Amino acid sequence: MKVLVIGSGAREHALCRSLSLDPDVTALHCAPGNAGIAEVAELHQVDAVDGAAVSALATKLGADLVVVGPEAPLVAGVADAVREAGIPVFGPSKEAARIEGSKAFAKDVMARAGVPTARSYVCTGAEEVAEALAAFGAPYVVKDDGLAAGKGVVVTDDVEVAKAHAAACERVVIEEYLDGPEVSLFAVTDGETVLPLTPAQDFKRALDGDAGPNTGGMGAYSPLPWADPQLVDEVLRTVLQPTVDEMRRRGTPFSGLLYAGLAITGRGVRVIEFNARFGDPETQVVLARLQTPLAGVLMAAATGHLADLEPLRWSDEAAVTVVVASHNYPGTPRTGDPITGLDEVAAQDAPHAYVLHAGTRREGDSVVSAGGRVLSVTATGKDLTEARERAYTAVGRIRLEGSQHRTDIAAKAAAGA
Ligand code: AMP
Ligand code: GLY
Repeated sequence: MKVLVIGSGAREHALCRSLSLDPDVTALHCAPGNAGIAEVAELHQVDAVDGAAVSALATKLGADLVVVGPEAPLVAGVADAVREAGIPVFGPSKEAARIEGSKAFAKDVMARAGVPTARSYVCTGAEEVAEALAAFGAPYVVKDDGLAAGKGVVVTDDVEVAKAHAAACERVVIEEYLDGPEVSLFAVTDGETVLPLTPAQDFKRALDGDAGPNTGGMGAYSPLPWADPQLVDEVLRTVLQPTVDEMRRRGTPFSGLLYAGLAITGRGVRVIEFNARFGDPETQVVLARLQTPLAGVLMAAATGHLADLEPLRWSDEAAVTVVVASHNYPGTPRTGDPITGLDEVAAQDAPHAYVLHAGTRREGDSVVSAGGRVLSVTATGKDLTEARERAYTAVGRIRLEGSQHRTDIAAKAAAGA
């Protein structure tokens, strides 16, 4: 099977790594990719949000399957263009990707499907915003309606900060604050059959102790020793299947990866958000534990054959990933700095720990930073404690001037708290 992956983050590196280990994959291409992905896949230049360009590339390469990683191409209709060219694609249509592209749309789907989520108002003017904030009280949750790479949400006790963020958004969703730990649960679906993956937890805030601004995600781990063993079945029954059924009922079936961001509140599970693609950095730990070869799973979803698939097999090992970000992320990150120590990790920590590249690029013989989240170090171990130790040992070998990472990824879970 010849596979083309679209995207250039650590998520795409994790996807490419798993696909490169799959004996059914005879050729692996990625566009545009990054310096790390170049080690496992052949890279191609493409404008990832240009459907015509992506489908022309897939046709030229004779790809049997195209996997679209990030949300922006999905929301732009890249999967539709590839499908129209007659090539199976893992990723939802433009219409179905609205479940991520518009928070208001997602709320409507959830209401129709009876899926539990935070109560919310969609507001357009300052007056409506003030009323909604007053109705819910602090802490205030203010969300930009559109795509914002995980940075469009402000959670604050300060009503003026909440109002200022709302004023900066074109259309804004204000919602009830959900208390309780968060879980990311991914499901692969062909539009009918829904196959949940193993749950993971992401760390959204920039700094240790969940302080600082929201980011795209600073680290993740799996499994979740503290979670109810029934959680996946419950979420499949109350969230994932009803959502997929509702999308099909609307004539916009969702196929690809449905990502439920959940809060486990005192009153039960609530959906915080849906995404239309694999999450980053959770994918790094989920795929680290998946033993079933990946290409067949993605192909079954792309071609409507998920019901025929054998149950997925998972490793008993734990996985932890730690994101190394540029100076000043999630603000305007500094880029162009050399990254060293990558060879040391490959020589001393593999195969238990390895580096997945995000914002990197090759400059002559060196690898330099080229984005906010630069790379993520993923490690496996017999339990979270061992996986953490291995991940942080490898992080310690990597040098990037001014870089930042959290030191408490999976710490509470490893300690059994
Ligand atoms: P989102 O982009 O909707 O996933 O929001 C980003 C992050 O903001 C989430 O992972 C939560 O940590 C936080 N958040 C979003 N909505 C809520 C809510 N209703 N209550 C509490 N925290 C929230
Ligand atoms: N880890 C959060 C996201 O991918 O949106």
